[in-house]
Amino acid sequence: MIDFHSAGLVCNGTSLSILDQSLLPQREVWLRCGDVDTLIELMRRLAIRGAPAIGVAAGLLLALLARRGSHPEELIVDAARLRRARPTAVNLMNTIDRLVPLMGGPEYPASLIEEALQICREDVQQCDRMAHYGAQLVGEREMILTHCNTGGLATAGIGTAFGVILTAHRQGKRPFVWVDETRPLLQGGRLTAWECLQHGIDHRIICDNAAAQLMRRGEVQRIFVGSDRIGVNGDFANKIGTYSLAVLAHYHRVPFYVVAPCSTIDPSCPNGRAIPIEQRDAAEVRGVSGSFGSCRWAPEQSPAENPAFDVTPAELVTAWILDTGVFGRESIGAAGWWEKDGKRD
Ligand code: MRU
Repeated sequence: MIDFHSAGLVCNGTSLSILDQSLLPQREVWLRCGDVDTLIELMRRLAIRGAPAIGVAAGLLLALLARRGSHPEELIVDAARLRRARPTAVNLMNTIDRLVPLMGGPEYPASLIEEALQICREDVQQCDRMAHYGAQLVGEREMILTHCNTGGLATAGIGTAFGVILTAHRQGKRPFVWVDETRPLLQGGRLTAWECLQHGIDHRIICDNAAAQLMRRGEVQRIFVGSDRIGVNGDFANKIGTYSLAVLAHYHRVPFYVVAPCSTIDPSCPNGRAIPIEQRDAAEVRGVSGSFGSCRWAPEQSPAENPAFDVTPAELVTAWILDTGVFGRESIGAAGWWEKDGKRD
């Protein structure tokens, strides 16, 4: 039985349903996804998004297709197409690379289905562990800033950076959250704000360019962000706008943390320059569109640049909060630094 539920995904044995995040928070629409073309389309238009969530969705769909009797050779071709759907988040590639060797193996399809479910379970557990370590850093009533959406919608569990905040909230620490709206697709203003409301977390949405002034006034005690890929030297890619926050945090001496499972570290990626950055449609910058309608304010003929992610150099990170512990800058450098020796309780 392929049975798995998260905030944005339901797999009930025979079908995969995805909560369309492009329509949130105005409309909660669940979409059936039964084939690879549909999932690729949903990923590209960010109906399902967030690095761990897209990896988990790809795994569940391949498990369903295997169970329905897909021929392993067909599934290998499908998996290769899915792997290319979004280029920056390494989770998608990790999932495919774990499942492909099982296609056509002696235990197929049972082994593939079990591995896909194991990927889901691991993500849930990793979220819990990161949240446990990260929440220890949060004091009473701190003002925390976060960027993009890193909660239950973006993962199979409670989230990465948002999981830390949620856990501190559940521990009664009463964090207050500045929610960066996150232009151009507003994952913060639409999705993180929605998740804060669902969990009763005190928050206020800000325009991305308000962060500097808040830090100058001493109204940000800590910044937590997620990541789509981390290089071996600690440089990391995350939603566009993360790097500017890190620079601001450095100037204003605000602790700046990246929260990710250690599977987000790509052992084949030496540093941030090697991380492929997804370039998206210029129309997303010239206006907005969603369930609230669509609006273009810039001249249609004006070219626009739309990198979906940026790279923050390791020297701007206070600590990497992984599922294996909290690693300071002094940890970086040793081979496999992320696997052991993080500060834990
Ligand atoms: O383009 P998106 O919305 O998929 O980008 C998501 C992010 O940048 C998140 O911060 C990231 O996936 C890591 S946390 C789940």
